[in-house]
Amino acid sequence: MKFFVDTADINDIKDLESTGLLDGVTTNPSLIAKSGQNFLELIPEICKVVKGPVSAEVAATDYDTMQKEADKLAKIADNIAVKVPLTEAGLKVCKNLSDNGTMVNVTLCFSAGQALLAAKAGAAFISPFVGRLDDICLDGLDLIADICTIYNNYDFKTEVLVASVRNPVHIIESAKMGADVATCPPNVIRQLYKHPLTDKGLAAFVEDWKNTGQSIL
Ligand code: G3P
Repeated sequence: MKFFVDTADINDIKDLESTGLLDGVTTNPSLIAKSGQNFLELIPEICKVVKGPVSAEVAATDYDTMQKEADKLAKIADNIAVKVPLTEAGLKVCKNLSDNGTMVNVTLCFSAGQALLAAKAGAAFISPFVGRLDDICLDGLDLIADICTIYNNYDFKTEVLVASVRNPVHIIESAKMGADVATCPPNVIRQLYKHPLTDKGLAAFVEDWKNTGQSIL
């Protein structure tokens, strides 16, 4: 499973990139607003820090303006994935860009039917939002299972990018289903390292090693 970080915070992106475990970045208008940064300056900077796909989202909702924005974003760097909403206009733009070899991430997916349309439109990534479905008492992970099954049935190349991830369980359960990518807030990626038995075991090893009086270096 690939790990993308879902943030527009350049410091978090640089820190996670330094682990060698980061495969890409996703942003959205809300994350850009939270960062307080200039979108058209920030995205090229992120594209230089991370080699993998960097999702940059259009702001328009009408087809003509969205296509113009998408064309502009696509030119920023080779690793840009233009992010479009799962609407009729968004999928038309997706088809145009995909036909020309640009990666497209179709976002705001909440149903298997929507995911099927995005795959047919040639999306490189489909972003089903698990957390937001959980928030309204539906099971977001059921949607991941359905999309994985449908894409496997037809050998679609579109990658399932699990979005709106809120906790490590979302990641593990999606990985068990074979989802291709999880895009996670920085803190959720860092939570994956943690286990109380690791901390306890390490403390004991450190203490016992100290008692040997030895040194490796
Ligand atoms: O980038 C899209 C998605 O990951 C947003 O997550 O937590 O705002 O539902 P959230």
